[in-house]
Amino acid sequence: MRKKVTIVGAGHVGATLAQRITERDHVDVVMVDVMEGVPQGKALDLLEAGPVLGYDTCVTGTNNYDDTAGSELIVITAGLARKPGMSRDDLLAANAEIMKKVAEETSKRSPKAVMIVVTNPMDVMAHIAMKASGFPKERVIGMGGVLDSARFRTFIALELAVSVENVNAFVMGGHGDTMVPLPRYSSVAGIPITELLSPERIAALVERTRNGGAEIVALLKTGSAYYAPSVATLEMMESILLDKKKILPCSVRLDGEYGVNGVFAGVPVKLGGRGIEQIVEVNLNEAEKTAFMKSVEAVRQGCAKFT
Ligand code: 2OP
Repeated sequence: MRKKVTIVGAGHVGATLAQRITERDHVDVVMVDVMEGVPQGKALDLLEAGPVLGYDTCVTGTNNYDDTAGSELIVITAGLARKPGMSRDDLLAANAEIMKKVAEETSKRSPKAVMIVVTNPMDVMAHIAMKASGFPKERVIGMGGVLDSARFRTFIALELAVSVENVNAFVMGGHGDTMVPLPRYSSVAGIPITELLSPERIAALVERTRNGGAEIVALLKTGSAYYAPSVATLEMMESILLDKKKILPCSVRLDGEYGVNGVFAGVPVKLGGRGIEQIVEVNLNEAEKTAFMKSVEAVRQGCAKFT
């Protein structure tokens, strides 16, 4: 029998993610949303693409949380998306209520699941999801760092006119305006980018990465990014579902690591079948540490409004 995965939210991120994981053909997918007919319609559409692409994934769309029971993985994308001029934090109050309900409804029907939180402001939402679900911290993970790193990789590859496959990049901290792209730990074919680019050009790429989400919101005008967010989530999902044990930057609850207590923030972790299997602590210099702590503080302030 295939593992079952629940995606909450059938909007752009949720539905695109559903398409991506459906096409991988190794799990069954339940998409749940409050909008009547929308998850059902999108699920049926995905099912009907199966004969052409050759996948046997069972995709179900529903408005009833009972259909999500027994999931191994729950991905929460439900909530409002940003409009131009809004920061991720502007979404806090509205999405906190949604997150609390979704985490309660899904966790009681799938008490052993791993939960991935995508809804913004993501680090605060992960904190709320952990509290509402009662799940241990190893099983509540926020998606942000993989996306931010993918954006940084894209901009480095464009700048140097090299393949994105050559580029590794690393972004820590909260998934917000204070995120911390780390040039010292970002490389092209193993060569740190600090050897390949001037400090000014690196600063410009770091700034573009920090504004990566807003750049797309400003272009779309009616919503936020979903192709890159969905594929970033897919990478995390597969590392868990296939027990690949990839090291990925994810938002996790820190209890002492990096000198931080009781706050979610993006750090490198090992993701496997049990969820977070290890938090990797890397050395940060003074400037990196200061930037990381500033970012953690921003998340802490967001959480303080809801605890
Ligand atoms: C982004 O950065 C939606 O937070 C997401 O595009």
